[in-house]
Amino acid sequence: MADFVGAVDQGTTSTRFMIFDHGGNEVARHQLEHEQILPQAGWVEHNPIEIWERTVAVVRTALQRANLTAADLAAVGITNQRETSVVWDRRTGRPYYNAIVWQDTRTDRIAAALDRDGRGDVIRRKAGLPPATYFSAGKIQWILENVDGVREAAERGDAIFGNTDSWLLWNITGGANGGNHVTDVTNASRTMLMNLETLDWDDELLSFFNIPRQMLPQIRPSSDPTGYGEARVEGPLGGVVPLTGDLGDQQAATVGQVCFAPGEAKNTYGTGNFMLLNTGTNLVRSENGLLTTVCYKLGDAAPVYALEGSIAVTGSAVQWLRDQLKIIRSADQSESLAAQVQDSGGVYFVPAFSGLFAPYWRSDARGAIVGLSRFNTDAHIARATLEAICYQTRDVVDAMAQDSGVHLDVLKVDGGITGNNLCMQIQADVLGVPVSRPVVAETTALGAAYAAGLAVGFWKSTDELRDNWNESQRWQPSWSSDQREQGYGRWKKAVQRTLDWVD
Ligand code: G3P
Repeated sequence: MADFVGAVDQGTTSTRFMIFDHGGNEVARHQLEHEQILPQAGWVEHNPIEIWERTVAVVRTALQRANLTAADLAAVGITNQRETSVVWDRRTGRPYYNAIVWQDTRTDRIAAALDRDGRGDVIRRKAGLPPATYFSAGKIQWILENVDGVREAAERGDAIFGNTDSWLLWNITGGANGGNHVTDVTNASRTMLMNLETLDWDDELLSFFNIPRQMLPQIRPSSDPTGYGEARVEGPLGGVVPLTGDLGDQQAATVGQVCFAPGEAKNTYGTGNFMLLNTGTNLVRSENGLLTTVCYKLGDAAPVYALEGSIAVTGSAVQWLRDQLKIIRSADQSESLAAQVQDSGGVYFVPAFSGLFAPYWRSDARGAIVGLSRFNTDAHIARATLEAICYQTRDVVDAMAQDSGVHLDVLKVDGGITGNNLCMQIQADVLGVPVSRPVVAETTALGAAYAAGLAVGFWKSTDELRDNWNESQRWQPSWSSDQREQGYGRWKKAVQRTLDWVD
């Protein structure tokens, strides 16, 4: 068998291809950003053709860098930004519209209407999700209603939908020349259209959004030896390789962090934060503002579910300091600037730029900086931004404890901001539990590689994967419990201001 497994990670800001060996070590990678298209306030789009071209480029370059060919890869997995929705013409491969990104709030009226007539409760029960602009169904409905000719094309079976996993899989397996129209259970569980118990598209949910069933991809297990097909010779891999893994990026990171037992959780810090708690084969319904989602399904084994705390704005708040306030030149600088002060000087920053996701689910919330006095400087704002990332995480950790009864004894972390020591120290302080980062911080791509490799026997079992996980750093809490609770109490007051803001 070939010595390596590859993974495409199609994220919100960039696409990367990574190659791993049997020990889960990185062998090569290449990564390219794509444009964030912001046509008006609240709208966020990506160009699907650009994403496909970037995918082709990163796959080819990573293989070249490692001096490998398709023959060296036992399998390839795909992971992706979830919910972001593409509708394209299966006859030509042309998208009818840009991809509407998960952060986009143009469907707020569609989402709000669902809760006025009881449909919202059906969605909560069947799909495990609160009606929100975040998920795919409203985005598909918007395209069907606003782009000329798409409704008719969808009825004819020509216009098809996918998240970016489906879009890439369709292209890699041949595109308009017979590409496979497929997705996995984790991605499907983010659409508001899949029934969590049957793991199939649900006719009642489809009717809420008036979406023709034939638009939707076939739903497969996350790790599947045959269902996704093979990469074609003429595609980016330049050879025939089995495509055997597909997971939404946060579920992939959960697999990459080897959270295979109920009660194990990870927190990924990207543009937003996404914390997932494995609840095993039990479907736990949240009473505290979390999502119920599919964590993974490995082949014929029963699906494993998770509770998820999704936070829309964390790393992107640091980008806002850099791009809009211009008080730092690079994201890394947030650490040195915040370290100039001992605390935030009474300042709290709630970055509710896209409303607030978990556990509040208020699309009308707007950001606030409160507690300012003339004493405060840019360093206090930077520190308050790092604290906001950590307090938002505390909100979801508390909700998880209430929903599941699981009290974390350590928080496994990964993603960009985990390179910021000060932020991770604050995280341990705010939670009062240690925070632990693994050696391989690229857990998203690694999780997709694991799903693909398990399907072809490259790895034999999840126990074998556990042996690959090693800690690189641990942060211990240093605040007293009084300090912790006082800080958190003020944070909750600041959050309340953002909820009260809009009439
Ligand atoms: O649900 C959205 C999430 O999947 C996006 O993750 O890492 O691409 O920002 P990321």
